[in-house]
Amino acid sequence: MFFSGWTNLKDVLNALKEVKFIIINHLIWKYQFGVYTKRKFVTNHYHILFACKNKKKYNFNKIEHYPEDVWIINREYWTNKIKTPTKLPIEIVKKILLYSSDEGDIVLDPFICSGQAAIACKMLNRHFLGFEIVKEYYEFAKKRIKEFSLKYLNLCL
Ligand SMILES: C[S@@+](CC[C@H](N)C(=O)[O-])C[C@H]1O[C@@H](n2cnc3c(N)ncnc32)[C@H](O)[C@@H]1O
Repeated sequence: MFFSGWTNLKDVLNALKEVKFIIINHLIWKYQFGVYTKRKFVTNHYHILFACKNKKKYNFNKIEHYPEDVWIINREYWTNKIKTPTKLPIEIVKKILLYSSDEGDIVLDPFICSGQAAIACKMLNRHFLGFEIVKEYYEFAKKRIKEFSLKYLNLCL
């Protein structure tokens, strides 16, 4: 799954084509409260591209009877001191994981930021791999994952 705002969408689509990803679905995530505007419409959606390398071999667990391609999910409010960039709501990450992976799978989030995908993986019994280029965010995610594990799973990382 690839997330993009509308301003970069054409570049993301071109990049995916270049590396031979096949787009299965183009979803819209609608969230509450975009930034107030005076002379244009308020943006309150993201694009989610469901893509794969092999059309005959990809995971799609039909967890809903009628899986629609517009998802209305609220953003989360965080009060943490470190200001990390865009965080996906845990609800959206869990939904993606449930559709596209199975228990015990390894999930890769190449841009892990606050560790949201890793936390969702822990909640849903998936393994995870992630990368983060900003040391401060990496430390934040590491601490968060460790605390989550200790609190809810009683595991030591
Ligand atoms: C929008 S956030 C990711 C949000 C996250 N995946 C989630 O589920 O909420 C993008 C993150 O990618 C990191 N990043 C950007 N370029 C990177 C790179 N080349 N390698 C690793 N991390 C990178 C940024 O520092 C930022 O924290």
